[in-house]
Amino acid sequence: MTPARGKFVTLEGVDGAGKSTHLAWIAERLRARGREVVVTREPGGTPLGERLRELLLSEPMHIETETMLMFAARREHVARVIAPALKAGRWVLSDRFSDATYAYQGGGRGLSFDRIAALERWVHGDLQPDLTLYFDLSIEVARQRLAASQVSPDRFEREGSGFFDRVRSAYLERAAAHPGRIRVVDAAQPLEIVKESLEKLFIEYC
Ligand code: TMP
Repeated sequence: MTPARGKFVTLEGVDGAGKSTHLAWIAERLRARGREVVVTREPGGTPLGERLRELLLSEPMHIETETMLMFAARREHVARVIAPALKAGRWVLSDRFSDATYAYQGGGRGLSFDRIAALERWVHGDLQPDLTLYFDLSIEVARQRLAASQVSPDRFEREGSGFFDRVRSAYLERAAAHPGRIRVVDAAQPLEIVKESLEKLFIEYC
């Protein structure tokens, strides 16, 4: 018997919003509920994608090069990891997906959403996340958290607060346009409260 298709869940947010902390915990909770879970990330998720990630996070490049490399890494990721796992009945939890391109390259850098939509249709027109958790946080707090983490900032994290304000606005705009898929999580709340709301969401969702 062919297994039922797994669910595709993505996590989004500005740098410093805490999504990576929550991702490990969500994976653990889903496994406790008997789901087989694949945890992955973008850019990255495949050997080639991880090499593209290194370039994307360090090398200065034209905005269109940046966008196409994001989608090139995504193509590998969809073909080699996401689609096969979903087909085999596994859940896929991805730290970022195409909403990040709309937010960062579209909102942050100002590339037209039409260009991004064309690449999106090409790369994964028939595959969209079933659920996206957008961790929303004020840019001021996100930057304080980033500074406190003491990890040396990458090419995106070095951008100014104007860039991140635009990224956040683009995420919120997408959340408003896709209310069924994108759930906004208030990441300013204490960790335990965020976990409680995620737990409720997954009980409803599983
Ligand atoms: P991470 O720090 O959450 O792993 O993400 C790496 C950086 O890549 C982050 O600053 C956001 C950026 N990014 C984009 O600009 N566009 C994209 O499509 C993706 C997936 C990530």
